Amino acid sequence: MDQSNQRTFNFNAGPSALPLVVLEKAQKELVNFRGTGMSIMEMSHRSATFEDIHNGAISRMRKLYSIPNDYEVLFLQGGASLQFSMIPMNFLKNGQQAGYIMTGSWSEKALEEAKLFGEPYEIASTKTDKYRNIPTLEELQFHLDDAYVHVTSNNTIYGTQWSTFPDTSNIPLIADMSSDIMSKPVDVSKFGMIYAGAQKNLGPSGVTVVIIRKDLLAKTNEEIPTILKYSTHVDSNSLYNTPPTFGIYMLGEVLKWVEENGGLDVIAKNNEVKAKVIYDAIDNSNGFYTGHATLESRSLMNITFRVAIESLEKLFLSEAKEVGFVGLNGHRSVGGCRASTYNAVPLEACKALAEFMVQFQSKHS
Ligand SMILES: Cc1ncc(COP(=O)(O)O)c(C=O)c1O
Repeated sequence: MDQSNQRTFNFNAGPSALPLVVLEKAQKELVNFRGTGMSIMEMSHRSATFEDIHNGAISRMRKLYSIPNDYEVLFLQGGASLQFSMIPMNFLKNGQQAGYIMTGSWSEKALEEAKLFGEPYEIASTKTDKYRNIPTLEELQFHLDDAYVHVTSNNTIYGTQWSTFPDTSNIPLIADMSSDIMSKPVDVSKFGMIYAGAQKNLGPSGVTVVIIRKDLLAKTNEEIPTILKYSTHVDSNSLYNTPPTFGIYMLGEVLKWVEENGGLDVIAKNNEVKAKVIYDAIDNSNGFYTGHATLESRSLMNITFRVAIESLEKLFLSEAKEVGFVGLNGHRSVGGCRASTYNAVPLEACKALAEFMVQFQSKHS
């Protein structure tokens, strides 16, 4: 617990820590938003006030990511999970193939949905190695007539992350960036589409960001429900139906915070420093702690590790909880420990955790 502001050291994997200044501002603006006499949750999504918030969030996103003009930015609902279905529903024609690069459970879920619509196949998989690593670029062989290639940029559960994305030439590369969106600069022009649930780096759950290249819209299937077509949301500036207005406001405020903190270059540097503090505690422990991911595939967002002596792991997690660290249990499907160090997790929290790890080790070895 950070005693100065009574905030816990929050390492949750998502929903996760939000910038304190954003929460405080939202609190201040909650009951009477900028003199309107009502909260954002109570106003029309067609009002000029909300339009400003909505378009402001889109233009901040465009600016921070240097999104080229031939891309649209959408705010949808249904989480990243709905994108697993919408992508093949829109882009995969019966009998057509799409390549999926398999780096964890979220890639598996995306692939399973695509099987309902076309003929997806695995380009490469690191499953036999317990998803400890990202495949090398040389391992990736895709077909030149694939509808798209799908990649998960950061594997939240296993703690691995792509550092260099494959060049798929004319085949649209579609990336699930749910757990590392806006954690560093990205060359958007390398992708046909990027999508992410907001609840890790961007705001509360309920908003899904989609950045889509306009030429893909012409290739979408027509025989699908209106609300599931990307073109529907492009044509209505994501206001086809009532959007998650408060979530979009929060997302815009989080992006403002990113801007005010120096933009993505600074955020990326901070993230490197934060992750290093915890990885150092693992690497300098003489095997007391072991990292799950291979060195070259390590994520700067989700740090996965084990306490090598199994009987001590439970104690580590319960003592950590007792002293105020939240969210350190690994995902229920893999166990172990995981510290998620998203953009809004302060360096002090990472330092405090590393210190706790060192102390726990000296107490028990
Ligand atoms: C990489 C990745 N993709 C997809 C999802 C699913 O996201 P949602 O819960 O928004 O559907 C998650 C959730 O943690 C994730 O980490």
